[in-house]
Amino acid sequence: MFPRGRKLLLGVSGGISAYKSCELLRRLQDQGFIVDVVPTAASLNFVGKATWEALSGRKVITDLWSDVESVPHISMAKENDLILIAPTTADLLAKLASGRADDLLTNIVLASNAPKIIVPAMHPEMWLNPATSANVSILRDRGFVVIEPDQGRMTGLDVGVGRYPDLSKIFSEIQAKLQNNSDLAGRRIIVTAGGTREPIDPVRYIGNRSSGKQGFALALAAATRGANVHLISANADLPEIDGVEVTKIETATELLSVLEAEFPKCDALIMSAAVADARVSNYSQNKIKKNDFETMDLTKNPDILARIAEIKKSGQIVVGFAAETDSKSENLVKLGTEKLRSKSLDLMYVNNVTDGAIFGSDSTQGVIIDSNEKNIDIPEISKDTLSDILLDQLVSKLG
Ligand code: CTP
Repeated sequence: MFPRGRKLLLGVSGGISAYKSCELLRRLQDQGFIVDVVPTAASLNFVGKATWEALSGRKVITDLWSDVESVPHISMAKENDLILIAPTTADLLAKLASGRADDLLTNIVLASNAPKIIVPAMHPEMWLNPATSANVSILRDRGFVVIEPDQGRMTGLDVGVGRYPDLSKIFSEIQAKLQNNSDLAGRRIIVTAGGTREPIDPVRYIGNRSSGKQGFALALAAATRGANVHLISANADLPEIDGVEVTKIETATELLSVLEAEFPKCDALIMSAAVADARVSNYSQNKIKKNDFETMDLTKNPDILARIAEIKKSGQIVVGFAAETDSKSENLVKLGTEKLRSKSLDLMYVNNVTDGAIFGSDSTQGVIIDSNEKNIDIPEISKDTLSDILLDQLVSKLG
């Protein structure tokens, strides 16, 4: 499994096996990649732009002269964590080896520092031609990964080496290129997720609308980056994550007591759980009848993060979350900064939950507040992508 929300650019050049990259695209998405497809002009003879747009769910631009105002060859070169070109024709290999940049894809490749994986597919005569071999060795010397094509039947009746390789071969190269992102290896991270429930009687409780999706996305992303993750799940109805230790709790009091025991052992706490601010003063063992249910005495719950701040040691990082209903960005920053300071946090993500947005959704929107005042505005993105952005910030705080 790869960290979710990472961006990959899939270049497609003009070979008959371009259709196999439709399946590749799907499998990349299954693995959590956000994929931008950049087809060459020749490849559009085999698979059209509409197919790539529909499959990727993203706008596809095919030439240098579209969307010029956003300078796409530079933005795409910078945004992507990996460039994968499948299939790569003999002609594209030659262009890449000579550093040419006469279309969108070759411009992006030349402008990008991301790792590059090339998947050649062509007839055996072309693959074995000394010109092609020389181009491949130039590219390998420059750090490109060039995957050996498979052996077998070609488009016609000929047989030999040159076939588009099995997808597992491509995925293991991607894994090898991205595996160095285990920047949380050896770190113990606690993530709290979901929303606490404060029972009123055996039937009712005080709760909130947190689904736990953000906390679970963070736990998965941290585990994928090598962390030893302890997920404290408050009433979240979500599937367990392989390799992640889970403690299920219900109330704020239970959450506090688990954290008091576990926090001293961790490098970082990510407090994405929504904690009920109050509990009933007198829990009723029996269901309260509606005629007796007019008022309820409440007792304030402890502010868990404030308690954590009292036992926090130097080097430990604490990330808080806040849900606010003020749609003005400057007010979100103000409210978030006040909470960051009052709770002695290192980072805070303020969700803009106006009109019930974000709860239960797969996407989020808000602002990351940093104790160093380097805030990051977050436009609507997936909770998986936010997890990786927050973990990038956390890694730099951990040092
Ligand atoms: N939090 C906590 N203990 C509480 C309430 C909240 O530790 N009793 C944590 C939440 O997990 C979150 C952060 O504090 O990481 C901010 O939560 P939020 O509900 O936005 O803020 P509150 O402190 O409850 O302030 P208010 O209700 O006034 O907005």
